[in-house]
Amino acid sequence: MRQVVARALTCVVATGSMPPVVCDAPTTSSPFTYPELTAAIAQRREKEDHLRSYVKKVGPVLQGLRQTVAKCGASAAESEGKRCESARREYTELVKRVQRETAELTWGSEDAQARRAEFTSVYGCTGWTEEALALIKENSPIVELGAGWGQWEAELRRSGVDIVAYDNLSSRPRSSARKGQVHRGDERVLDSWLLQDRTLLVVYPEGKLLERCLRHYRGDVLIYVGEGRGGVNGGTSLFDLLEAEWDVVKVLPVKPFEGGHERLWVCRRKPKSA
Ligand SMILES: C[S@@+](CC[C@H](N)C(=O)[O-])C[C@H]1O[C@@H](n2cnc3c(N)ncnc32)[C@H](O)[C@@H]1O
Repeated sequence: MRQVVARALTCVVATGSMPPVVCDAPTTSSPFTYPELTAAIAQRREKEDHLRSYVKKVGPVLQGLRQTVAKCGASAAESEGKRCESARREYTELVKRVQRETAELTWGSEDAQARRAEFTSVYGCTGWTEEALALIKENSPIVELGAGWGQWEAELRRSGVDIVAYDNLSSRPRSSARKGQVHRGDERVLDSWLLQDRTLLVVYPEGKLLERCLRHYRGDVLIYVGEGRGGVNGGTSLFDLLEAEWDVVKVLPVKPFEGGHERLWVCRRKPKSA
């Protein structure tokens, strides 16, 4: 169950809203804060609370039935037959109901969960637009970290971008239909002088991945695709670091799955003060 809550947070709950079109110049004091994301974060908290209380309510019932069914498996007594059969049926039905209801609470509906699987098989965790591809091309050559199955890599390569992509294979999303050329490697590949002149691209990072990359990357241009402050792709320390050491020079909309609020940020390293 906790995994469901985590997935709801990392791969975005479905609310049905589409991302707004963004202009070049950020208008708030933080370029990584915007009203749609702020509203979405509040909605996600509410959903997470619902999911927690649902798990609290249904968990003990499920556990009790599971224990009865397990005892039945161990007992060969015929007199137990009917009681066990009905416990098994009840357990199976409850498992199905729990799966359906958690999908509804997490994704909005079971349909949305299926649509998401289709979406990720084409795009990975978030989708590109032609403008986003063109902007990345303008900033090529590219080194991509945390590339997953390489959907972005494949599309960028198809668009004529010089790109080399890495993933440490620690938690790639489930196997998808479309795959790019992704080498095995983590942020330490960025120490290589061969990659230092490339723009760093990181799409939909998880945990501290982007912060770790920035500790190794020596180049001057970063393209980050993901949610802003408070979103699912990095914590406060990431956005503090970005704001302290990088200037946002361009922001573009991308094509998130329902309920996602990812954007594309082109950032340039701030000059070191003398
Ligand atoms: C949320 S997935 C996003 C994958 C892909 N960018 C996409 O949009 O579909 C994050 C990816 O980062 C990878 N990853 C996590 N930590 C990493 C690290 N230290 N170095 C390289 N890849 C890493 C995981 O294996 C996973 O494939």
